[in-house]
This record gives sequence, structure tokens and C-alpha cells, in this order.
Amino acid sequence: MSAGTPREVIKVLIVDDIPDTRENIRKLLAFEADIQVVGMAGTGREAVKIATDTRPDVVLMDINMPDMDGITATKAISTAVRTAAVVIISVQSEPGYLRQAMLAGARDYLTKPIASEELYTTIRRVYERNEPIRQQEASLGAALGRPLDAAHKPVAEQATGAGHVIVVYSPQGGVGVTTVATNLAAALMRPDTRVLLIDCNLQFGDVDAFLNLQSQSSIADLTKVVSDIDRELIDNVLMTHGSGLRVLVAPSHPEHAYDITTEAMQAVIAACTPLYDYIVLDAPVQYDDLTLKLFEMAERIVLVAVPTIPSVRNTRKMLEIFDNLEKPAKLSDKIVFVLNRTVNEKERGRGTVPAESIAAHLKKEVALSIPLDERTVLTSVNQGVPLVAKQKSRSPGKELAELAELLRKSIEADEEPPQTAEQQAQRSKSGLRALFGGTG
Ligand SMILES: Nc1ncnc2c1ncn2[C@@H]1O[C@H](COP(=O)(O)OP(=O)(O)OP(=O)(O)O)[C@@H](O)[C@H]1O
Ligand SMILES: [Mg+2]
Repeated sequence: MSAGTPREVIKVLIVDDIPDTRENIRKLLAFEADIQVVGMAGTGREAVKIATDTRPDVVLMDINMPDMDGITATKAISTAVRTAAVVIISVQSEPGYLRQAMLAGARDYLTKPIASEELYTTIRRVYERNEPIRQQEASLGAALGRPLDAAHKPVAEQATGAGHVIVVYSPQGGVGVTTVATNLAAALMRPDTRVLLIDCNLQFGDVDAFLNLQSQSSIADLTKVVSDIDRELIDNVLMTHGSGLRVLVAPSHPEHAYDITTEAMQAVIAACTPLYDYIVLDAPVQYDDLTLKLFEMAERIVLVAVPTIPSVRNTRKMLEIFDNLEKPAKLSDKIVFVLNRTVNEKERGRGTVPAESIAAHLKKEVALSIPLDERTVLTSVNQGVPLVAKQKSRSPGKELAELAELLRKSIEADEEPPQTAEQQAQRSKSGLRALFGGTG
């Protein structure tokens, strides 16, 4: 959150079986104007009930408790209330438990005794990191015309995925957005990673052609019925590529796109998001309300350009827009800049700009260059087989697979709690009084 913006109030639920500990934490939090304790629970079961009723933003969770332990409760809460970030509070470093807690969906941990400053910064940090999830839920709620509360969560209650949204975009057509999106989605797939690719080019989407899918249904079958979307309907509308990749294709005729509103698109994406680990969006070329909403929903924006002057000029204009837009978090922080159709120095003709000059001109690091190879790319499209599935060790399949790894790692890094002793030490500022728990 930028300086000067009034802080939103962060709703916190405290879970610990020892009444004194709960009370100590509550007192500590009472000093902070932007933190409000909305509930306290003494058991895991009670925590799940209160969390579903009050929908806290942050849950401070003890591990060892009677009836339901903190890890089981973390799993239940992370699934039922996606906007709730669970912070584990453990007695001492218990690496085994912590790992289990992280796998159950916890976003961070604190070790007793906890310093007040560390508690506040952790709460604020996990809250800020959950902004994209809050945006998604708000979009779904807005599109459904009601809040996505405990009484009505047709899709979220069946959530199973990590819900990372990646949008692939270029302000200029024909530069390789669909090539990157299809390959990225295919490369992110693993036996334990569920991926969904959504074609957001409503009028002239061609993801189905790239993947050789003969589709009977399309995204229009969901946008028409946003208030009735459930998992079964989504499953029926999605196509499955031979590789196992799930795909939501664009309408087969441009006129079917006329009535699709931005709100309906947001609702559909938000409904699909909790069911998948990665959701890759092939975004349309224009800069309008829909693309802006897609950027807001995304954790990463893969901005694709080619090394030509028109593409670089348009990219520059877009980067200026990203720099100036501040909602919800600075959009420019999410950008992964990719240069497609690059050629080596020998083959470079007039009108092709070297990658280094582009990076310098745009003041934006090129995360990855994908070489030009007309034949290989066209063959892959004609066969409907992504390059990363067929030729992962050869350019340009190699670079496309690298892009997927780069994104996976950077998204995972965002989620990881500090690992090393130095990072821990940095967080708990020296000299701060240990406030509760004593030696644990
Ligand atoms: N690295 C590459 N080398 C050679 N050809 C490529 C490369 N990347 C993409 N292409 C080709 O460029 C053309 C445009 O690619 P693609 O359809 O992915 O771009 P796009 O940005 O999605 O276009 P549109 O604006 O039409 O949606 C396609 O014919 C594709 O085969
Ligand atoms: Mg395209």
C-alpha cells in the first residue's frame, strides 16, 4: 500500500487453546488502528466455524490444540475462506510441523515468543499479498450481485487449486501472445499441478486452432449464467487437450461475443480460479476495461513484444500506463517482459532492434528472449501440439519452457515464508521486548 493511502482494516481471528495467550495477542493487536480482532477460538473446530462466519483476512493459528489441530484447521479454513491468510504460531521452530502447515495452505509463521513489531508486519504482509485473491472474490461477488459470503459460495467451497492467475498480453497484435500463452500453460502442467488456459479474445480467439480442439461449448456458455456457475457446469464447458491441459475457448462466432460483459468475464475467471493451480489468460490486444480487469486479477503479467520499432513503441506506452496505475498493487511490479521472435546479430536485418537497446530504451529488463523459428512454430500449430510438449530441449520450445519455470519460481518465492536464520533475524528487530509465551 502506498504512503498516504488510508489503510483498510485487517480482520484477524486468533486461535489458541490457552486463554491467556489469546488474550495477550488480542491486547497487542488492540494498539493497531488498522487491525481488528473479529473472533477468538480455542479449538481448531471452533476456528473453522468462526472463520466461515466472520471471513477474517488473517488467522493466527496455534498448532497443538485439542479436538482439531492447527494444521487440519488451516487446511479447512484455506479452502473455505480463500481470502483468509493463515499465519502459524508455533512454540519453537518445528520444521516438520511448519512444512505440513505450509502444505495445508498457511502463508507464514511466527515463533513464540513473538515480538509485537514482527506480529504487526507479518499480519500486514500476508494481508497485502492476498490482495489479488480479495480482488477475485470481490469480482465474483459483484458479478453475481451479492457478496461471496459463507452462505453462498458455490464454487469456492469446492476449491482445490492454488489459483495463480497469469495474463499474457501485448498492446500490438500478432507478436506471439497466443503462442506464449498456450506453451506456458502446457509447460506449467505437472502430475500435481492443475492448469487452465482461458482464451479471453472473445471475438477472434484462436486458442482452439492452436491446440486443435473441436469445441462444442465456449466461455459464452458460462458468461450467460454467472449466478448458476458451479463446478459441474465448468467441467462440462471446458475442453481437454490431449496433454491433459484444460481449456476454456472463445465463442466460435464473433457475434456471440457481443453480449459478454466485463463483469461476466471476471465472474467466470473468478469462479474457475479456485479450482486450478495456474490459470493462464490469453488476453486481447486492446487496452480497455476488460484487459484492465484481467491485469488486476493477475499475479503476473507476461508482456510480450517483438524487436521491431512499432512493437517497442506500443510497449513503451503500455509500460507508462502500468507505472501510473496503482490499483490494487502497482501493476508494473507484476510485469515479466518477454521478447519474442528474436534473431541473432548475423541475421538481424534493418528494422530489427537488438534486445539490449530495447531493454535500455524501455528501462525494463528482458526476462527472456524467444528466438524466431517460423517453421518449428508453424508445425507445432498445425499439429496442435505445443512446442514445450514436443521439443522442450530445442529453441524456441526450450525458452518457452524456461519462461514457465521462471514464473513458477517467482510465484512460489512470493508465497514462501522467510527460510534462513538471517531472514528470521531481520524480521524480528533486535531490542524488541518478547511479549508472550516466554521461552515457549
Ligand atoms: N518465436 C516465433 N518464431 C516464429 N514464429 C512465431 C514465433 N512466435 C509466434 N510466431 C508466429 O507468429 C504468428 C502470430 O503468433 P500468435 O498468434 O501467437 O500471436 P498473437 O499475439 O496471439 O496474435 P493475435 O493478435 O492475432 O492474437 C503465428 O503465425 C505464430 O506461428
Ligand atoms: Mg492471439
